[in-house]
Amino acid sequence: MKLETERLILRPWEDRDRAALAEIQGDAHVRRFFPRVMTREEVEADIDAAREKARLNGFHFQAAELKETGALVGLVGLGVIPDATRAAIPSHPRVEIGWVIGKQYWGQGLAPEGARAWLDYAWAIGLPEVVAFTAHINLPSQRVMQKLGMIHDPSDSFEHPKVPDGHPLRPHVVYRKRNPGP
Ligand SMILES: CC(C)(COP(=O)(O)OP(=O)(O)OC[C@H]1O[C@@H](n2cnc3c(N)ncnc32)[C@H](O)[C@@H]1OP(=O)(O)O)[C@@H](O)C(=O)NCCC(=O)NCCS
Repeated sequence: MKLETERLILRPWEDRDRAALAEIQGDAHVRRFFPRVMTREEVEADIDAAREKARLNGFHFQAAELKETGALVGLVGLGVIPDATRAAIPSHPRVEIGWVIGKQYWGQGLAPEGARAWLDYAWAIGLPEVVAFTAHINLPSQRVMQKLGMIHDPSDSFEHPKVPDGHPLRPHVVYRKRNPGP
């Protein structure tokens, strides 16, 4: 699936993205709201898994490339929520939207720009709703959700099953947006 915005090309992963994504996901500041950074091997496995999930579901988190330079700025996309996480969220939503952008590109509205295109795609393929979730202390990501017109649903807050008990990143908030219809 290839989508285009004013400044971005949102496209399937290519082998040339492996090193660039490993640099972004290996950065402790970028990953400060995740339990830890990712190794090169984990990033490689993630890219392979993303390709497989895109094949199975028709979408997954994909590359976001800056049109002007061809550089990888990060990942944006839709994903079917993994079963263990889905079970932990009170409303058991099916599809999430998410983003990780390299820190040199922060503050330019690139995450919301890419995410808007992915939401349009979600509505075009008839998904009834898309949610976004993040650690309750990850305010930059929640700003992106707000910019997309997603609504915070406090009744859906949950403890992330992959984060240890008592860890400050365990409590998560959920934002949702419904398909605006034809
Ligand atoms: C969250 C993230 C994707 C936002 O991407 P972005 O393209 O910078 O988005 P925006 O330009 O719209 O900025 C969103 C918010 O990020 C914060 N932000 C912007 N520039 C920043 C900077 N240089 N340093 C810290 N925070 C910054 C601000 O709170 C901003 O909100 P504002 O526009 O109301 O001031 C990006 O910060 C990121 O990749 N963070 C690390 C990964 C992550 O947490 N992903 C989400 C996991 S759920």
